[in-house]
Amino acid sequence: MRSRMIFLGAFALVVVVMVIAAASQTGSPQSGEASLSAKSGHTPEAVPRLKRHLFARTALYTRSANGMQATARSLEEQTLDVTTVLSNMGGYDWLRIVNTAKGIDGWIMEHLTSAVPDMKIPKNGLLPIGQERVDRYAALPHDYKPADLVNLDMQYCRIRQIQMRREAAEAFVRLHRAAKAAGVSIYGFSGYRAYETQRQLYLNRITIGERHRQRYVARPGHTEHQLGTVVDVVGPDIRHAAMHSFDTTPEARWLRTNCYEHGFVLSYGADNRIPTGYGYESWHIRYIGKTAIPAWVRTYLDPGHEVARRYAGR
Ligand code: DAL
Ligand code: ZN
Repeated sequence: MRSRMIFLGAFALVVVVMVIAAASQTGSPQSGEASLSAKSGHTPEAVPRLKRHLFARTALYTRSANGMQATARSLEEQTLDVTTVLSNMGGYDWLRIVNTAKGIDGWIMEHLTSAVPDMKIPKNGLLPIGQERVDRYAALPHDYKPADLVNLDMQYCRIRQIQMRREAAEAFVRLHRAAKAAGVSIYGFSGYRAYETQRQLYLNRITIGERHRQRYVARPGHTEHQLGTVVDVVGPDIRHAAMHSFDTTPEARWLRTNCYEHGFVLSYGADNRIPTGYGYESWHIRYIGKTAIPAWVRTYLDPGHEVARRYAGR
């Protein structure tokens, strides 16, 4: 019970921080307007000019003394103006939507919304590798699909064939060969994921009641997999695919120290000192290119970390 309370408290804080970050992308509060604070427990907070993208059809709710009640009105997928945030009522966080022109005034669940992307996709359809930003706060446009995706040859895949951006796929083949030379076999089983695929993954997880799975499945638009530079890996025993047991395998051990030499990082590593909001994923590696590695290592790993020491001065 206590750990559940701690988890819920931490989650509420993450959500409020996330909303603050989203609000700051769309403009900071003017003096005299209400500002957000990390309060929770039924205290609505006014948010100036906050937009969120609703990615699933949902009922509009009304708020009463008994909590939130679904109304007969439903909302389709769309980008909405949010006026107020209410955290942790009935175990959910809520956003108040007011649109006088459309006759909308009610509440929706925050976890069905994502950030509104704030980036320009270059004309060639390719975000520069290593400089892309996508995380809990920043989202990619739903139609972003890198123009240089290639199929990774099946000899480097398990479970299914995957796609990656060409440069990332070539780097992964080099990583696979180096690992092989060191006696371990590393295969990809999940690479590029379209926005719609991630949307289904996320919605499946939350409908089976696993809200905590938000620690392992990003919201649509918020996954690094949509970049086409990420690969989830497994060794010869595919029972470890996306399981914590992968962490104990020789493949995971090899990756922890060697993936950097090939331009890959562990986005959600156990040792990363900047919290990402996701749980430890020993299988999720992201290609950022060798030149971006030293700066990443300086930022995300403790200076005393074995890998940081190796990169000191580089
Ligand atoms: N598993 C990571 C967080 C994702 O869904 O992108
Ligand atoms: Zn992954």
